[in-house]
Amino acid sequence: MTCRPLLAVCACLLLGLLPSLRAAPAVVPPALIPLPAKLTLADAGFRVDARTPVVIDHSSATRHTASYLIDLLARTRGLHLRVTSGKLESPAIVLQRDPQAPVAQAGGYALDVTPQGIRIHARDDAGLFHGAITLWQLLTPDARTGAVDVPGMHIRDWPRFAWRGLMLDSARHFQSVAEIKTLLDQMAQHKLNTFHWHLTDDQGWRIQIRRYPELTRIGAWRTPPDAGHDGEPKRYGGFYTQDEIRAVVAYAAARYITIVPEIDMPGHAQAAVAAYPQFGVTGQRPAVSVDWGINPWLYNVDDDTFTFIDHVLDEVMELFPSKYIHVGGDEAIKDQWQASPAVQAKMHALGITSEDALQGWFIARIGRYLDQHGRKLIGWDEILEGDNLPADATVMSWRGTDGAIKAALLGHDVVMSPAPALYFDFVQGDLADEYSGRLGVESLKDVYAFQVVPGVLSATQAKHVLGVQANLWTEHLPTFAHVEHAVFPRLDALSEVAWSPPATNHWPSFLARLPAQFERYRAQHVNVADGAFAVDIATDRNLALATGKATVTLTDQVGVAAIHYTLDGSAPTPAAPRYDLPFNVTLPVTVRAASFADDGSPLAASRERVLDRAALLSLPGNTLPNCPASDFRLRLQPTPDAKSTQPVYAVNVFNTCQLFPVTWMDGVTAIHVDAVRLPRNFALAHEQKLVVSRPHATPFGELVVHADQCDGPVLASMPLPDPAHSARNFTLDARLPAQQGEHGLCLIYTAPIDGPLYAIGRATLTP
Ligand code: ACM
Repeated sequence: MTCRPLLAVCACLLLGLLPSLRAAPAVVPPALIPLPAKLTLADAGFRVDARTPVVIDHSSATRHTASYLIDLLARTRGLHLRVTSGKLESPAIVLQRDPQAPVAQAGGYALDVTPQGIRIHARDDAGLFHGAITLWQLLTPDARTGAVDVPGMHIRDWPRFAWRGLMLDSARHFQSVAEIKTLLDQMAQHKLNTFHWHLTDDQGWRIQIRRYPELTRIGAWRTPPDAGHDGEPKRYGGFYTQDEIRAVVAYAAARYITIVPEIDMPGHAQAAVAAYPQFGVTGQRPAVSVDWGINPWLYNVDDDTFTFIDHVLDEVMELFPSKYIHVGGDEAIKDQWQASPAVQAKMHALGITSEDALQGWFIARIGRYLDQHGRKLIGWDEILEGDNLPADATVMSWRGTDGAIKAALLGHDVVMSPAPALYFDFVQGDLADEYSGRLGVESLKDVYAFQVVPGVLSATQAKHVLGVQANLWTEHLPTFAHVEHAVFPRLDALSEVAWSPPATNHWPSFLARLPAQFERYRAQHVNVADGAFAVDIATDRNLALATGKATVTLTDQVGVAAIHYTLDGSAPTPAAPRYDLPFNVTLPVTVRAASFADDGSPLAASRERVLDRAALLSLPGNTLPNCPASDFRLRLQPTPDAKSTQPVYAVNVFNTCQLFPVTWMDGVTAIHVDAVRLPRNFALAHEQKLVVSRPHATPFGELVVHADQCDGPVLASMPLPDPAHSARNFTLDARLPAQQGEHGLCLIYTAPIDGPLYAIGRATLTP
């Protein structure tokens, strides 16, 4: 099949024939992410080297874009270009604002590569910047440095959606200004344009407000459960000064990114109420929360409180030029309002008959204030409750897509950011070395497959869909290494969903373009997750235990990488044997495996599995399924603010129960468990009743081992040590009655549910 010119749709057809990354296509589209709307390959290309001038028009925006490109290229390709202003030289890279540029859509651009040079022209500054990002990707097709031969091509490109967003929660965990700039850089490199900054929550108030200094003096700091012990800080927190925020806003604007600040209300207000209890409901001063989840502290509905919020919003609007101001509105359980005579009296006076309607009234009042100041209110989909939403309010749909559908039918604009598909705090894979996060798995492919526009909307209603956003809640992303791991490479999938025409979305094509992007990450020292390509080394444990021989299967999540392996403990390279089919080994053996792109560049670090009797009987706790599998499950860091990415524990917050898989038990006489005690810092609100409480025979509960099912016979019961007088990590040992053949085990902690949470680091069966 010949396919020139290579329109994007044609590229899809072509790539549809590709079985995998292993078979190199005859014509590979350039490794651009997101894929341009239209791309036509031409015969003759252009070589860019250090002598190639960058010619720009006289506008300062063009100069800025040129220097951004030149700086990025120097850092990532070691290619140092220089700017020439005005006079057209040839051959050259030409950046030009041009009212006649062929792409009329906002943010769009044209890019032509011919033997005479490379020309980017656009009708607006953002479009020119987007074109420069595309050119940078064309100039970084691989890991090499220096000159690049760019294939001839004509690109006509524009964004699918106006809102291409990423939300960062800086309240649960705090990121430095430098870290936030790193994230903004990556957003820019993916043509994302909206950074939603979650700045206030129960666990911290992060934005300096001059008029209310207690918000940050008190509200920015919390005392963790293990404060001052085991390396934990005495207090956790921080905030952004107004100068820092101005710098971040300018940094973003220079990358054509708008920052939408979020001040959450009427719930998620505990840090604010800790600072100024008079604006809370009960008059009491809570601590800044250390509990993840849904805390009960709301703002009250007095006029003074609205004056406070208006004053806060005044300073927020002064700092953030964004048209939209996000006012949260999510997860405000109404218990405090229900219990408060003052709130009930106000409701009566207003003729409001439910607390949901009161929330509607609250949000509408804030909406009017923003409106008077030329801004627009956006909030989470709970702002639809109470049926009082101002017509021009925008709804961010997070509880699935129902909120978006309801809002669009009512004529509101909407942004799609539903859990779990676009909640990047869900883990990306299920290997033992995956970082902390929420369970289950939301893979790279899940993000790529996300359908932004709900099918039930008509074409007219669909126009209300402004775009799409991924959310990074940071309860379980305590460091920036965690944040980067959660974001990348899922941000690539998001960018393509947000930017490229749906007809060009094509998973095999996307995967074929990803290895080059991994090299760009590597060049910028980004902590990209390799879980999509990491090799899972699997075997039938029981056959191996029974026979001393094993059949080894190697797979990666996306199923396309070239997997190479060794059996002698050495690091696999592309020169090592390539995996095609399951192979047999005799125990003991150490299998190491890694995955590679066609050009031999690594896609995932090597993973290792020792196959011998002892190792087959010893399993990391975070690979043991929680029971039941459907509850509120987490891969939990050992302390709320842990500095390292490992260890990680698989926990069902509602039910401390895990399954040891069916195992050949002949010769097993004992169990050894590396156990850990974790803070139970979860505010579960009305779901607290779902936490399973179990009888226990000793003061601090036991780890009980059942045979086969969780209601099966008890094989062992290991009392837990006194939490007040024992280390966080401890071991438990018990004899097991002799068993023959294959049996599973169910491991249940019976510790009182008003005390700490327990998890399993590793469970080992021994002779
Ligand atoms: C949310 O996840 N509470 C918006």
